Amino acid sequence: MSTALIAAAHPDALVVGIDQSAHRLAKHQAIGAQNYLLLRAEAEPFWSCLIDAGLTLHSHWLLYPNPWPKASQIKRRVHGHGAFPMLSRLGGALEMRTNWGIFATEFSQAAALIGINGQTESFIPDSPMTLFERKYGDRGHTLQRFRGKCVI
Ligand SMILES: C[S@@+](CC[C@H](N)C(=O)[O-])C[C@H]1O[C@@H](n2cnc3c(N)ncnc32)[C@H](O)[C@@H]1O
Repeated sequence: MSTALIAAAHPDALVVGIDQSAHRLAKHQAIGAQNYLLLRAEAEPFWSCLIDAGLTLHSHWLLYPNPWPKASQIKRRVHGHGAFPMLSRLGGALEMRTNWGIFATEFSQAAALIGINGQTESFIPDSPMTLFERKYGDRGHTLQRFRGKCVI
């Protein structure tokens, strides 16, 4: 959903939507934009491929990544993953959204450690950007977003 919306809002861009889950990708509904593709892939090796190819991003969204809420699972969170420092080499604007405040705080602190400084805030979307965002909104969850800039 977010991939198609971002593509429609940025007709001059090529938008790549990534999820490792075929089940998740199967929920996609096209809305007309042609400038995007969906990839079933793990994000981290894809970041590595971009770096190897010398490519940088204009903008990068991490939308409701799995929270892995147990303390023992911190290395599974996106900002606890060994590949996280690669994000700072991709450039561009970075936005991460979550419905868990602790996750947002951790992400912001981890981002600063790799040179991506930004702001974390709670927000109410005008309209949902993703299916999970819609679900969380319907349930009255407080949504948080981190917005930063990767300066290479
Ligand atoms: C909470 S869902 C959010 C899905 C969608 N972004 C949304 O907001 O509606 C988290 C998604 O992250 C995907 N995911 C988890 N780890 C991933 C990884 N390393 N690479 C790519 N996708 C991953 C899962 O397959 C799952 O669909």
